[in-house]
Amino acid sequence: MNILLIGSGGREHALARAIQASPLCTRLVTAPGNPGTAQHGTNAAIDITDHAAITELCRREAVDFVVVGPEAPLVAGLVDDLAAAGIKAFGPTGAAAQLEGSKAFTKELAREFDIPTAAFVRFTDAAAAKAYLGERGAPIVIKADGLAAGKGVVVAATLEEAEEAVESMLGGSLGQAGAEVVIEECLVGEEASFFALCDGSHAVPLGTAQDHKRVHDGDRGPNTGGMGAYSPAPVLTPALETEVMETIILPTLDGMRQRGTPFTGILYAGLMLTAEGPKLIEYNTRFGDPEAEVILPRMRTDIVAAMVAAVDGVLDEVRISWSDFAALTVVMAAKGYPGAVEKGSVIRGVEEVGRRDQVIVFQAGTALRGEDLVANGGRVLAVTALGPTIREAQEKAYEAVRGIDWPEGFYRTDIGWRAVAREP
Ligand code: AMP
Ligand code: GLY
Repeated sequence: MNILLIGSGGREHALARAIQASPLCTRLVTAPGNPGTAQHGTNAAIDITDHAAITELCRREAVDFVVVGPEAPLVAGLVDDLAAAGIKAFGPTGAAAQLEGSKAFTKELAREFDIPTAAFVRFTDAAAAKAYLGERGAPIVIKADGLAAGKGVVVAATLEEAEEAVESMLGGSLGQAGAEVVIEECLVGEEASFFALCDGSHAVPLGTAQDHKRVHDGDRGPNTGGMGAYSPAPVLTPALETEVMETIILPTLDGMRQRGTPFTGILYAGLMLTAEGPKLIEYNTRFGDPEAEVILPRMRTDIVAAMVAAVDGVLDEVRISWSDFAALTVVMAAKGYPGAVEKGSVIRGVEEVGRRDQVIVFQAGTALRGEDLVANGGRVLAVTALGPTIREAQEKAYEAVRGIDWPEGFYRTDIGWRAVAREP
């Protein structure tokens, strides 16, 4: 098959590597891609918000199957437009991607189908929202309804902080994404991520992971897209995985099907493991980044065969098998991230380090300038290592990170601390 992959981050580099390794893949094109994805096929420099241009690219390149990496094109209905043009694409329709595109949509679904999640109320009016905050007090969580690139959630420790968040979001600071807010109960527990591959009716587990969202060691500082991750998440025991499938994932699939918008693609559940059991914090409708960089290298089953089975609605015939090794990834970011960063600094050692056994250097925000690999974004590399334990994967990953010569970059030195502390 000729396959087109949409996206340009570390997740897409991990997907490109896995897709190219499939015996089903004849040729891979990534749009727009990055220098990492170019190692596994060719890149096509097109504007991925232009669905007509993507359809045209599919015709020109005789593409048989499209894999969509990021959320924005899913929510914008790219899979619907490709299907209408007769092109098979992996990922949810725009209607089903509302599970990520609208927090209120997901909360209402959870309420209707008895899926455990934090109690919530929706508001479009700031005065009413603030009156409610006054009744409930802090801590409390304020969320913009729409996609806000990680800036849409405030876990408020004080009432003042909560009121400020409501005023700012309903006042237009996030544009249309914040025109409605969801105010919800603050859950207490450990967070973990659960992935499931879905075909509209069936779901199969697609691994677990934990990430580190804060920029600094000790989980301090502002939130980022993720500074590192590991898989599996030891806290999600087999019994908890079964509970998550039965109480969260399968009721979601049933609910979406009953509503006439069946979900096909990857359901990425952000969970809080509370004293009362696992609760849904939020859904994403795609692989995580950097979670893909630890899940895909552990996957033994052919990802392309699994994704095609999902689109064909025959996932009940598929079982996913995994490496016994754990994987851990350390994100190397440009100084200043998650704020403004300088582009163009030279990165050395990526190729050499990438040749080490059980090490993969995924590229996220990179570009080529002549022969030089240069930084071209906030999160620049995701350095993944595999090992028999998370501790060994962690040691190997940090050894690899130290082999990369990039003075303008930084990284956290404690990725995996929670899981390592749990290991004997
Ligand atoms: P989200 O973008 O929905 O994943 O939220 C970002 C982060 O906010 C989550 O990873 C949690 O750490 C935190 N969070 C979101 N909702 C809640 C909640 N109801 N209770 C406690 N923390 C939450
Ligand atoms: N790592 C968080 C995300 O992909 O949304």
